[in-house]
Amino acid sequence: MSNRVFNFSAGPACLPESVLKQAQKDIYDIDGSGIGILEHSHRGKVFDRITHETEALCREVGNIPDDYSVFWMQGGATSQCYMVPANFLGEGQTADYFETGKWACDSIREVPLYGECHICGSSKATNFDRIPAKDDIKYSANPVYVQFTSNNTIVGTEWKGEPEGIPDGAFLVSDASSNIFSRPIDVRKYGLIYAGAQKNLGPSGITLLIARKDVLELSPRPLPEMVKYQNHAKAEGRFNTPNTFGVYLMGEVFKWILAEGGLKAMAERNAAKAKIVYDYLDSQDFYVPHAQKDSRSLMNITFRCPTPELDAQFTEQADRKGLSGLTGHRITKGMRASMYNAFPIEGAKALVEFMKAFAHEHAAAAKA
Ligand SMILES: Cc1ncc(COP(=O)(O)O)c(C=O)c1O
Repeated sequence: MSNRVFNFSAGPACLPESVLKQAQKDIYDIDGSGIGILEHSHRGKVFDRITHETEALCREVGNIPDDYSVFWMQGGATSQCYMVPANFLGEGQTADYFETGKWACDSIREVPLYGECHICGSSKATNFDRIPAKDDIKYSANPVYVQFTSNNTIVGTEWKGEPEGIPDGAFLVSDASSNIFSRPIDVRKYGLIYAGAQKNLGPSGITLLIARKDVLELSPRPLPEMVKYQNHAKAEGRFNTPNTFGVYLMGEVFKWILAEGGLKAMAERNAAKAKIVYDYLDSQDFYVPHAQKDSRSLMNITFRCPTPELDAQFTEQADRKGLSGLTGHRITKGMRASMYNAFPIEGAKALVEFMKAFAHEHAAAAKA
């Protein structure tokens, strides 16, 4: 009998059960080698197999062309905030950034260490409740690249596609940490995609990078060897000792995505789950959603009760009913329901049932 609960955590987040069960076995003994995955050398035959398989599976899942490198690094997605401008932006050159939430701001903060930062679109004035409208986007004249955060994990907003009209000659960089492989993606539109694994791909402590090979040749300044993308790409993500377990687990998650029907199937599942919660939010007036309707994320749904006291009661009572991890980020407060690829549809239904009951119980008192 399983004692697992519905885990709405924003990351590290719930993983497919079949993957966890396989990992339980492989931690003890993988490939009949008599050695568990955590104990294998990153230069040995078993890990060679895992590295190559994880890369091949990633290419299959994302339909990634040969002129793109696929590799991984440590340091979390946060390290990419400085890695991107350090590797791509020369002194006096400009990069354009969309300012759509905390993770975008963390990236923007690092840019002046290397070059000029131009904010080409922002939702700061409205507490990051939306993705900038097309008419509000103003690119600089000649940016090296344009960076956006494809899903804003904390505030619960998501780009429906790529920003349009980026200037000729510039390439697109995406922090896709919280919606990578949640829907089909046309990798050819990007110079670089990076994603911390702990939402849709695997454990924390490993970041997936998908980079166009010519972009990786940019070398605007001398850098420490560990900071150069080329080194990590050429060494298949093994420039130093990688998070071997993370590479293994991403491979298992990719197998699961393919077995479930690939990114199209993921997109359908994710839309169906989010619809259950958004339809309910739109049908009532007790809870207040944070994101504007046309900017809503399918991954992270943010809302509040009428008072902070009720927010606290909501998350505490939900937790007791097996709905875990609903406390909102300290920036937005309120609640956040994160429902990445592996999150089951039954959890979305259970959340709405709980929301209805809680609203019924507290609506009268909240109005008084
Ligand atoms: C969109 C986004 N970017 C970056 C990060 C930072 O990731 P890490 O903690 O792995 O550095 C997060 C973490 O949740 C995120 O959601």
